[in-house]
Amino acid sequence: MRKFVLLSLAVAMCVTLGFSGAAMAQKKHAPKHVWRAMIGGLSDIQSITAAMMVFDMKRALQSAKELQAREAYISKMEQLPETVRKGHGVVATAAAKLVAAAEAGEEQQMAVALGEVMRACNVCHFERRDAERRKKLKKK
Ligand code: HEC
Repeated sequence: MRKFVLLSLAVAMCVTLGFSGAAMAQKKHAPKHVWRAMIGGLSDIQSITAAMMVFDMKRALQSAKELQAREAYISKMEQLPETVRKGHGVVATAAAKLVAAAEAGEEQQMAVALGEVMRACNVCHFERRDAERRKKLKKK
């Protein structure tokens, strides 16, 4: 019984620390809704890739539409800095091409457009997020 209480306490501590850690990270980094949207974008890219691999155009189209709408929404949020809005605008434009290709059932065009989406995500990560990470990578 004592063991169980101690274990529960330990779990509770970890959960609390974990949450406050995430909260701190969010304060320091991207606003919470933008961060969440990027996780959503990642999930969409995964779904689209999976759907393309089995030629499920309906599902690919649905996820592409969600991605496009979300990125367009972020790109219009006035409270965000101009560069952030612009970056997400580029993602939204690439996602619109993906939607069009999925609607037409053109898998080759979809692959190109999906590449453009990932490039648009990555341009911003490269410029704004990963400079320090790259430096550390080179040292190793
Ligand atoms: C305008 C710039 C910008 C664009 C566009 C952008 N990101 Fe990000 N992304 C960032 C920044 C900055 C962070 C780090 C945020 C933080 O630390 O809170 C980040 C963090 C993330 C994370 C969390 C991992 C981490 O390092 O914190 C994921 C996943 C992610 N982005 C996916 C994407 C995907 C997928 C897209 C495209 C659909 C995308 N991002 C587009 C700037 C961007």
